[in-house]
Amino acid sequence: MAEPVRFPNIPLYEGWGAPNRVESDILGLELIAGELPQDLRGCLFRCGPDRQFPSLFKDDIFIDGEGMMHGWYFRDGQVDYKCRWVRNERFLLQEKARRSLFGRYRNRYTNDPSVAGKDQGTANTSAIWHGKKLLALKEDSLPMEVDPYTFEVKGYHNYNGKVNALSMTAHPKFDYAKNELLSFSYQAKGDATTDFLLHVVDASGDIVHQIAFHMPFPAMVHDFAVTDTHFVVPFFPIMTDMEVIKAGGPYYQWHQDKECHVAIVPRRGTADQIQWFKGPACSAGHMMNAFNEGSMLHLDLCLYEGNCFAFFPAYDGSEYKPCPPLLTRMTFDLHHPEAGFSKRVLGPMPSEMPQIDERFVGKPYRYGYTISFAPPRRVSQLGVWDHQTGELKLWNPGPDSSIQEPKFVPRGPGEGNGYLVMPVNRVAENRSDLAVLDAQNVEAGPIALFKMPIRVKASFHGMWVPAQTMQTGLYNFP
Ligand SMILES: [Fe+2]
Repeated sequence: MAEPVRFPNIPLYEGWGAPNRVESDILGLELIAGELPQDLRGCLFRCGPDRQFPSLFKDDIFIDGEGMMHGWYFRDGQVDYKCRWVRNERFLLQEKARRSLFGRYRNRYTNDPSVAGKDQGTANTSAIWHGKKLLALKEDSLPMEVDPYTFEVKGYHNYNGKVNALSMTAHPKFDYAKNELLSFSYQAKGDATTDFLLHVVDASGDIVHQIAFHMPFPAMVHDFAVTDTHFVVPFFPIMTDMEVIKAGGPYYQWHQDKECHVAIVPRRGTADQIQWFKGPACSAGHMMNAFNEGSMLHLDLCLYEGNCFAFFPAYDGSEYKPCPPLLTRMTFDLHHPEAGFSKRVLGPMPSEMPQIDERFVGKPYRYGYTISFAPPRRVSQLGVWDHQTGELKLWNPGPDSSIQEPKFVPRGPGEGNGYLVMPVNRVAENRSDLAVLDAQNVEAGPIALFKMPIRVKASFHGMWVPAQTMQTGLYNFP
């Protein structure tokens, strides 16, 4: 006989954060404002965590939880929606037991003994389409292939055995000009290992180049960046201590007294070509873009002058010091790695989940798109950054509302010529909308707004896949 399901009364599970635990199909979302652009055909895939059952620990953290895939299919003049759990080994084991069996975030030493040696991956962070495969990503595991129309699990994808690692990032980068996917694995040989691998994947899904090296410490590496010529990999001092996790503690801890290290290496280079740049402790979850300018390399990221993850404590027990994420340009002189790097804040508005017109990944670029937190109450708004003029344009989704990560969809030639598509949280109504905006005129508000009768709790990251690409596997953006 299973125990009744009781979610603890903790802030994480209140209001918008309450576990949803519902799979849905909606044929034809209700269009409540504007018109659907006729050239917008394809699917917005996204993935995020939900809680299948109450966590084994009351100090659950919001990035944990079983993966839920979401798809908004733009077809036949309407938008259909589907969400399904990623029914992987962890999910099925817990489904059978009717309770959580896996413990603290990534900490296998806190799991129920009945799942010792089982796969604890959650597949809860992002969804990408590459090599004719839809992949649910989580940085603790290899990519999980799922059916693009049913979200049925097909199994882990290891690139024909070429990934000599236990995991791959949820933040790979696309080079649409070359139809290449750039990716990496960190702690690649298991918990607290320093093994790191960079991968170049061609259009057919084959790994065609790898670079293996060791991190300066067993870091958390959530995101990285690429330029046309180089990989840029920051190692912030958020790290894993084997003794701590064996004792049941947090998987990551913040080390204020350690430097951050940035590895820069040619995309088709070798480990001995890595240039290392060092600087005082800081951190970031997400990168906007990077590009070359002569011998200088610029990396734009949402930088915290401290610990970017409040739920990963300081190793020495010191109190968490809040710090806002500020869009910052780090600059590296490839002729002088010994000089470290410079930093320049690009604007005062705290911002996160940065996106760009991905046709400009790795290239000099003008526009960035973020969730921005505008005063006076740090309301979540859409931010459009113009690096040429320094201007920041905002779209406020309305009272008691916030947005999730905006994805750019190309419409025609020229940077920024496209749409921004994003879920909108209607917090007071406990449900969501899907908004489509003209990326060149966001202040006018949505050109199409679809009402959802349900709540899309948290979908972290995802990808727009044009209808044609779902057939051919190739991206042919204008
Ligand atoms: Fe992320």
